[in-house]
Amino acid sequence: GSTQKEIRMSSETEIKVGSLLASSSGAAPVNGSSSSSIQGEKQTLPALDEANSDPFSYLDTAKEKLSAELKEKQDKMMANGSSKAMLSFREKLPAYKKKAEFLKAVADNQVLVVSGETGCGKTTQLPQFILEEEISCLRAADCNIICTQPRRISAISVSARIAAERGEIIGDTVGYQIRLEAKRSAQTRLLFCTTGVVLRQLVQDPDLTGVSHLLVDEIHERGMNEDFLLIILRDLLPHRPDLRVILMSATINAERFSKYFGNAPTIHIPGFTFPVTELYLEDVLEKTHYHIKSEFEQRRRSESKKDPLTELFEEADIDSHYKKYSKLTRQSLEAWSPTKLDLGLVEAVIEYLCRHEGVGAILVFLTGWEEITKLLNNINENSFLGNSSKFRVLPLHGSMSTVNQREIFERPPSNMRQAPSSLVIVLLKIVLATNIAESSITIDDVVYVIDCGKAKETSYDALNKLACLTPSWISKASAHQRRGRAGRVQAGVCYRLYPKIIYDAMPQYQLPEILRTPLQELCLHIKSLQLGTVASFLEKALQPPDPLSVQNAIELLKTIGALDNLEELTPLGRHLCTLPVDPNIGKMLLIGSIFQCLDPALTIASALAHRDPFVLPINRKEEADAARKSFAGDSCSDHIALLKAFEGWKDAKRNGTDKAFCWKNFLSPITLQMMDDMRNQFLDLLANIGFVDKAKGIKASNHYRDDLELVCAVLCAGLYPNVVQCKRRGKRTALYTKEVGKVDIHPASVNAAVHRFPLPYMVYGEKVKTTYIYIRDSTNISDYALLLFGGNLVPSTTGDGIEMLGGYLHFSASESVLNLIKNLRCELDKLLQRK
Ligand code: CDP
Ligand code: MG
Repeated sequence: GSTQKEIRMSSETEIKVGSLLASSSGAAPVNGSSSSSIQGEKQTLPALDEANSDPFSYLDTAKEKLSAELKEKQDKMMANGSSKAMLSFREKLPAYKKKAEFLKAVADNQVLVVSGETGCGKTTQLPQFILEEEISCLRAADCNIICTQPRRISAISVSARIAAERGEIIGDTVGYQIRLEAKRSAQTRLLFCTTGVVLRQLVQDPDLTGVSHLLVDEIHERGMNEDFLLIILRDLLPHRPDLRVILMSATINAERFSKYFGNAPTIHIPGFTFPVTELYLEDVLEKTHYHIKSEFEQRRRSESKKDPLTELFEEADIDSHYKKYSKLTRQSLEAWSPTKLDLGLVEAVIEYLCRHEGVGAILVFLTGWEEITKLLNNINENSFLGNSSKFRVLPLHGSMSTVNQREIFERPPSNMRQAPSSLVIVLLKIVLATNIAESSITIDDVVYVIDCGKAKETSYDALNKLACLTPSWISKASAHQRRGRAGRVQAGVCYRLYPKIIYDAMPQYQLPEILRTPLQELCLHIKSLQLGTVASFLEKALQPPDPLSVQNAIELLKTIGALDNLEELTPLGRHLCTLPVDPNIGKMLLIGSIFQCLDPALTIASALAHRDPFVLPINRKEEADAARKSFAGDSCSDHIALLKAFEGWKDAKRNGTDKAFCWKNFLSPITLQMMDDMRNQFLDLLANIGFVDKAKGIKASNHYRDDLELVCAVLCAGLYPNVVQCKRRGKRTALYTKEVGKVDIHPASVNAAVHRFPLPYMVYGEKVKTTYIYIRDSTNISDYALLLFGGNLVPSTTGDGIEMLGGYLHFSASESVLNLIKNLRCELDKLLQRK
């Protein structure tokens, strides 16, 4: 599983690339998109002569020629020295021993399930076996192997790895395609895609024409996209008898998948790893405490012959040394809290490992970006770790830009590793990761794993329609996976920073994503693939979701105008299908570009899709609140505050004063940078569906970017039906909704201390339930915004003004006013339709 934000990042969108999963013919048109840089020579075959009386004979020759060419190239490569070195590495992987058995099973069966421990060579070897086999048997021209990955980063890293193993560059016979980025060519026969890209491709090509082999990787994670793809594949198989489907899982428990596909045969690849010692918190503290103590005592003994004054100094030295390790005493076990992640403890263990244990990379599992950044800062400020050039600390997170991520795989040069360590400083890698490093990414030289035992997990409360993204305990299966990341090159140790009793209480497996997330995006997707009614389609899932969750999702889609009353896609719905973000955020982007305040829409959408850029310092809360308020001005809007903060940061960046700006205003530079990256991605997506004319420049979509009233109306369009009414109660204003009654503004909001709001409604991004029901980020809006951009209108004769109920706006007004509003809404619909 991954965090909600990562899910959004990974639900890729298809861009206009003609036939992405290119037809099997070598003459297939090459991807024309400029964003997909194609490396290597493009070998295009001569265009088909239409006058030719027998075009197929020509094609056959072209195919034969292509197959022969690829075989010749492969044979040459295999004879090459560097390929031989790679081959001997590959031969040592457990998957290699199963090569013949695997290829035979693929040839004999339409569906095959392969399980094997992470690192045994499933992802890099199995697709490659098929590729090599097809090429050597001169079938290359008809072969088109697709392998799905749940995350962008694994698609890139795996295709790079296989290209290297084959002595090629990426984009030659092996390539990748992820959202808005591709490296592939007409020669590409094995393509790594995110699962989202394949799902989008199905819109244009429901039969996956031309795909010869489809490998679905990491199915044990039970991600929503993978579960969804499996339903589609099961229905597709009878229509595509020639298609081969291979499911790959990291857990031995492959039974369920086999059963789902009518008892498909399974192959298990036995693992091979060095032993990994697992230590629970009590063992960790025992071991480190004992070790540190005995080391100091030894030092004291050996130096006790010194004069008393020196000894006194030494004593003080030892004391201060001990203080650093105070987290690593037996008392820490009593102080340990199951609800709070103690970063100090994590840091102490890292320092202990760097000081006292052998050389080897350290992999730390944390729950999210926030902790990764905090720990990164702490380590840099740590007098021992921060000052040493021996350590390199690297963050690894699903939404990082791909460039940074590649650093993770760099190993110290082999000549450096082999030199005596006294001569060369060996760089020690410390990778701070989320659960992304659990199974899809293998960092080879990891010897120590530090596991905090938690991961951010989405959960969905269908009754209260509340989605939460909170750190929760991982499953035993995940803990096992994390442990397995050590011991790949030598014996390893897994430091579990939680007591054994916590482990014992962990569930065996994590709940599948489809059962714990809001289903809006999935429902849109089912509609766009024309798979019938959502409810009946989802009943076919491996583990079908709660009908109430399905119903909620459909209702929401109707409320925001993405589905009509017959559950069919509206023009808005069709556009939303192409945007890989939450439908609410997608709608904000679309309306923002139509009303020419694109820039603010991009900024606010990126913060909503990623996170708020304001940091919350515990000891300087008032100053931080004041900074946020000053950005909001008199707008009564958290969204305007973050918009202004972002714009201020952009200006400061131009003058090179961005660091000071962030520091002064309690902003996270990393979050702002990430928002900036996401803004660009959103912009590309909007350009792809014709909502932004990149040729004319973004200016053309920004005439009203400074009209904050309009920006707030666009916010209403995006955030509806998240609206509460502001009701006067004496001197104060109470917030209230018909469904849940009174709600409160979150203390961190700029609206928290406001007694009276100028406008009658409040839109919000997120509702959280603790002791009270809080709305976290809010913006005060007018009734006009609600009437124009809110839910469907129902004329009402009772009540006064607007009354919201079940996503509908009950509105009492004269017929002429009602008609006016209806006409305006019709015009808006036409604008959406025209694109
Ligand atoms: O898919 P599975 O977890 O079974 O293993 P894999 O990803 O195919 O990796 C097999 C081996 O290839 C790993 O143990 C690494 O040694 C190596 N590898 C690598 O060096 N660099 C990569 N980017 C990917 C894999
Ligand atoms: Mg793998």
